[in-house]
Amino acid sequence: MSVELKNITKAFGSTEVLKDVNIRIEKGEFFVLLGPSGSGKSTLLRIIAGLEEPDRGEILINGQRVNELDPSKRNIAMVFQNYALYPHMNVFNNISFPLKMRGVKKEEIISKVREVANLLNITHLLDKYPYQLSGGEQQRVALARALVRDPEVFLLDEPLSNLDAKLRVKLRFELRKLLHDQLGITTIYVTHDQIEAMTMADRIAVINKGALMQIGTPTELYEKPKNTFIATFIGTPSMNLIMARVEDNAIKVFGRRIIVRDKTRLPEGDIILGIRPQDIKVGEPSIARLKLAGEEKLGSGYILHLNFENSELLLYLERETAAVKGEFIPVLFDGPLYLFDSSTEELVTKIDNYEV
Ligand SMILES: Nc1ncnc2c1ncn2[C@@H]1O[C@H](COP(=O)(O)OP(=O)(O)OP(=O)(O)O)[C@@H](O)[C@H]1O
Ligand SMILES: [Mg+2]
Repeated sequence: MSVELKNITKAFGSTEVLKDVNIRIEKGEFFVLLGPSGSGKSTLLRIIAGLEEPDRGEILINGQRVNELDPSKRNIAMVFQNYALYPHMNVFNNISFPLKMRGVKKEEIISKVREVANLLNITHLLDKYPYQLSGGEQQRVALARALVRDPEVFLLDEPLSNLDAKLRVKLRFELRKLLHDQLGITTIYVTHDQIEAMTMADRIAVINKGALMQIGTPTELYEKPKNTFIATFIGTPSMNLIMARVEDNAIKVFGRRIIVRDKTRLPEGDIILGIRPQDIKVGEPSIARLKLAGEEKLGSGYILHLNFENSELLLYLERETAAVKGEFIPVLFDGPLYLFDSSTEELVTKIDNYEV
């Protein structure tokens, strides 16, 4: 089923937590809501599920307004941020609970629970109690309990946040495979983890302070961030932002001039120049020599921290440099440059073709 949010606005007391949110989620889509803590993600999910009422705006499911529809009639299943299993029930009873509530026949319950447990690889846990399970196993049981209802829309609120890094990677892959590839359920998945969003989503909506910043595919958000918030939120390490100036259609930075070869006419004056850490290299012909403040080892590569004026430039390298802390090293730009308006912080243009 498709889900459409129209002009959703919500305040708690005098704090506006959602500001005129408009999103259309297609049938079968794996849609991720991404935003920092407190941005309004859970509130938006609760509004879709019918657990919270918007002050203004409409929720449409398959084109039908559901604002007045009881949560149980929306055919939506939600796994909460702090999912709670019933501690006094074993796994089988936890999973079957929603079916029992609906008065489903016993044989049907047994076969349905078996089917879902099989799907989530927890058949061997059906007789156990929640306290006997690891976090990841409890997580799967919570998912099973939601899935058993055969929902047409699945809402997941940070379902992997309590798990260790390895299990998160495994489960995010499995979850997408199951919900999207196998079952084709329309899924709205909330996370504050941009890597989770990038790896799982068909499309992502980035939300900040209750306002929708941008909707797009992971690639669109990475390659065409609408503003500095998205630019620095998506991608690791974060995009570098440098104060610079445009004069005579050239960008002045580090006392040098970058001549733009693209046909775009640049706005003159102060701008914010963005460049990703992966697009800065060590070597000549350099644009500047910057002091090495430190190095972080990631295993797969290295992040160099370079000082200039009062700020820091990050550089991502696959191999270690011979440079030592305190040394001035030559850097060059080797990738797209993003120009943001210095007051609105909106993207003005992206430049691929330039010369120093
Ligand atoms: N019932 C409530 N009463 C008052 N304020 C609330 C209520 N629920 C949420 N808020 C406030 O609304 C804002 C958005 O909360 P919400 O839980 O939607 O954020 P979130 O994006 O899910 O954050 P997190 O990533 O930490 O879960 C927060 O400032 C929160 O304090
Ligand atoms: Mg939340």
